Order: sequence, then C-alpha cells, then structure tokens
Amino acid sequence: MFVSTRLPPSRLFAYCQRSLFTMAGAQSQLKPVNGQDRSNLIPFSSRLKEGRALIQDVWSIFAAVNLPADCINLGQGYMNFAPPKWVTDSAEEALKTVAPNHYSHPRGRIRLREALKAHYGPQLNRDLDVESEILVTSGANEGQYSVFTAFLEQGDEVIMFEPFFDQYLPSVTFNSGKPVYVPLHPPADSIKKPTSDDWTINIDELRRAVTPRTKMIIVNTPHNPVGKVFTKAELVAIAEIAEEFNLLVMSDEVYDCLTFDGKEHFRIATLPGMWDRTVTVGSAGKSFAATGWRVGWLIGPKSIIQPTLAATTRIVFCTNSPLQEATAAGLEQADKHQFFETQRAEYLERRSILCEAFDKLGLKYTLPEGSYFVLLDVSKIEIPDEYTFPETVSGRGRDFRVAWWMAYEIGVSSIPVSEFYCDEHAHIGEAYARFAFCKDNDTLRKAAERLLGLAKYLK
Ligand SMILES: Cc1ncc(COP(=O)(O)O)c(C=O)c1O
Repeated sequence: MFVSTRLPPSRLFAYCQRSLFTMAGAQSQLKPVNGQDRSNLIPFSSRLKEGRALIQDVWSIFAAVNLPADCINLGQGYMNFAPPKWVTDSAEEALKTVAPNHYSHPRGRIRLREALKAHYGPQLNRDLDVESEILVTSGANEGQYSVFTAFLEQGDEVIMFEPFFDQYLPSVTFNSGKPVYVPLHPPADSIKKPTSDDWTINIDELRRAVTPRTKMIIVNTPHNPVGKVFTKAELVAIAEIAEEFNLLVMSDEVYDCLTFDGKEHFRIATLPGMWDRTVTVGSAGKSFAATGWRVGWLIGPKSIIQPTLAATTRIVFCTNSPLQEATAAGLEQADKHQFFETQRAEYLERRSILCEAFDKLGLKYTLPEGSYFVLLDVSKIEIPDEYTFPETVSGRGRDFRVAWWMAYEIGVSSIPVSEFYCDEHAHIGEAYARFAFCKDNDTLRKAAERLLGLAKYLK
C-alpha cells in the first residue's frame, strides 16, 4: 500500500479504509454478493483518522523487506546482537519454572518491582513503594499509552519537543488528546562540529505553548532522534513551568543508561516538588538489548501510578511473565557484571566507527551525547535527477528520497527525520537522516566503508 501523507484527510481515510481491508487478506470477501459491494461493510473508528495512524509509517516504508537484501540496516533502532547470556539464561530458567509461565499481577512480578526499587530508589533518592509507585508495562510504549488513557480528557493538550519519538502522536490522539509542538532548535549553521547539546530549547516558546487545556509535557532525555541529554538547568526551567501550570510530566528516560562524554543523565523527578507530578519511563528493551521482549516500567507517585494501573490492566492485563523474571535478573546482576559501564564503552566504540566515516566525508552530523542515534545532515548529498522512487517515497520530503537512494545505491539504510516532525514543521527534519549505531562493530565497519561511497555525490 503506497500512500502519500499529502492526501487530504477525507481521501486519505477512504483510501486507507479500502487498503487496510485489502491488506488484511480479505480479497475473497471483495466479490460482490447479489450485486452488493461488500468490500467496506463496517466503517472503522474515526479516531484512526488522527495521529497519522493509517498512513504507511516510516518503519514499514524502510522495512528490510522493501530494501535490497544485502542493505545494512542502520534505520531501525533495534540491536543485531543478543542480550547478555546471563540474562537470557535467566529467561530460560524462568520458562522451566511453573509460576512465570502464567499470569503476573498487573502491577508486574514482585521480583522485578523489587529489582526496579533497588536500581532506581537511590537515583531518585526515595524508598520506593513496590505496591503503589512502580508499574511494569508491556514496553515503555504501552506504559506511555496507559498514562494517556488514564489522564487525558477530550481535547487535553500534550506538549512535546519536536522532533519527537513518533509513537507519541497516535498514542495521544487515540486517547482524545491534542499534540502541541515546541521546537528543539537545530544547531546554528556556524557550528562546524555540532553535538546534541547544540540542539536547544527556548523556554519562552514552551511557556507560550501552554494553554488552559494543557495537561502534560513529555520530556525525552536522552532524546530520540537527536541524542540530546537535557541539562539540569533545562529541566529546572521545564519543571518551573510544570509547577506553575499544574502539568503532569512524562519523563521518557528509556536511554538513561546510554550517555557519553561524561554527560550526566539528570532525572527531572528529583527536582523539588517534581516527584508528585512526574512519571519516569524505562525500558528493558533499551537497557538489555531486548527490544522484542516488550518489558518496560513506570515509576512515580501513587496518584499517577494507580490510575495508570487501571488503564494497563484493561489494555494488556499483565506483561509477559518469564521475561519480567529475566529483566529482574538483569537488574539484580548488572553491578556484578559491570554491565552498564561495559555496555556504555561498547556503544562509544560503535558511535566512533560510524562518525569517523562521516568525518572522512566531511559531512556534518550531530554527535550524540546520549541514546544510539546519529543525525547526519544530508543536504549536501546530491541524488541523481533521473532517479525513480516508489510513490511512498516520492510523495514525502527530500530526506525520504535521500534515505531511499542511500539504501539502494550505497547499501546502508537510515530513517528520514521529517517523520519525527508534524506536517507543518517537516521541512526542518528534511535536512537529516537518522543512523542507529546499536549494531555490532563488524556491521558498523562494513556500513562505514560503504558510506564512503557517498564521496562522489557530495555538492
Ligand atoms: C524515546 C523512546 N521512547 C519509548 C520507546 C519505546 O520503548 P519500548 O520498546 O520499551 O516500548 C522508544 C523506542 O524506540 C523510544 O525511542
């Protein structure tokens, strides 16, 4: 299904309704019965019209299946290496034991909640209550969705810094919320070697974005896709606004164990008064190289966790049990294995393999101080005029075309960054492609070598 997002919403809805039906393999039902067209009998919910829920998203356009077989995938942010063996051993152990093969408490398995308490308590300076202040969810994503379900009324506004992790948008709109965007300003042109710290917020813009309908601010640090690690001063300024306007803060910290160059990850929940209005979000997928396990967690005051528990209980009832046990083992034994320190050093090496290639090419990129993404400025890459693109790509921004061309002609895939912007501001993202370096060194070296082939195509 190739759909341009630039179709007017009414046509897009009709198109997608048809296409989804066809995609679902329902062709046999498409035959007219007694002359009646049965291809579209049951209209689906109009909430799917919002939040780009129906358009083909960037992940499926740039999915491996649409790219050449030997293309190196630096697009999607999942690892091509396994979780540590001592963690997968614990998963196997859990599968051999009866209880973890069955339902868990919707709050999460007590062993994991205890492990989260031991890990996060000292960092949050709190003696966390495992019964009311910690909630295990099916990935960070479902946890965030459940917070929206629990707290948003029709038309409530949710402020997010742009570019934003793309799932926020449909998760907010499915729950009747309205996304409001505040820019992270890209580095000034004059900065020759920008870091993620050069992406800045303007606190007056944040203040101006607040209206009587604002309910929540999402802060994502370390940030996907920029890699920005918000400074304490920035978080203090955001906290002051949250306090002044009585806002809930969703602090998405899924990359909290991945900061580099001495950059300190600061938790907004530790600022004076902020515990009471902040929910901190974490993910086993990012922490233990296990994105398919779908284990995440929320930490916050009872006033936020209890309503969210009610939501998550209805949405998934509970999170898969054996992998909660394995995640608990991961947290329990991380210090013994010096796991987070080693992992950080490994990611640092991965980052430098990729960035060295961009340095050799003389291409500008944002050196990330956190997370595992590098934003490459693609505006100097010239793609041949006569190159033909599928409709999915040609209807989108220049970054989609550059990323597609790079995947086919250079052999390395990336993700176009305009996807992380609302339609109105997509042009800002068009200057960038996001490369994920959560891949093993050999893969990154091979990718780096291929990327040098860009030299012939630079303006
Ligand atoms: C910023 C951010 N938040 C949340 C998530 C979702 O995490 P999970 O896989 O645990 O649902 C991701 C995954 O890419 C992310 O980048």
